[in-house]
Amino acid sequence: MAKILLLNGPNLNALGEREPELYGTTTLKDIEESVRKLVEPAGHSLLPFQSNVEGELVTWLHANRPADFVLVNAAAYTHTSIALRDALKVLGCPFIEIHISNVYKREAFRHTSLLADTAEGVIAGLGAMGYELAALYALAYLGKRP
Ligand code: DQA
Repeated sequence: MAKILLLNGPNLNALGEREPELYGTTTLKDIEESVRKLVEPAGHSLLPFQSNVEGELVTWLHANRPADFVLVNAAAYTHTSIALRDALKVLGCPFIEIHISNVYKREAFRHTSLLADTAEGVIAGLGAMGYELAALYALAYLGKRP
């Protein structure tokens, strides 16, 4: 049984009401449930967490060591946080960077990620479904582990 972390960064608690033309109407609770429905029947555990505070995201990652896989939408911290990048390195397991919107169609400052070059993969622009697709990849990845 593997431990999968689902980490969401600032403002994602407001999904459903926040800029629906960009982020859709699915709430974070809905997203966490849809990922849980994929992960748990496969025999793995899912730990979800959201915070608007950079240090809380880092502390939560440390507190949940060891973990086997991380699904992370670091939101705006993707573009700014060396601390989060380093915390994912401390954890040392593979992670997928997720964005609901296609950040490459948006402002130039969203084109930079401090996480992407150390990620297993990046999903952007596929809406809330990006989380489920990332979870399916994680299950396939974990299933292939020796
Ligand atoms: C986001 C994209 C980020 O640029 C933005 O700051 C977010 C959400 C996304 O899911 O599309 O808060 O990560």
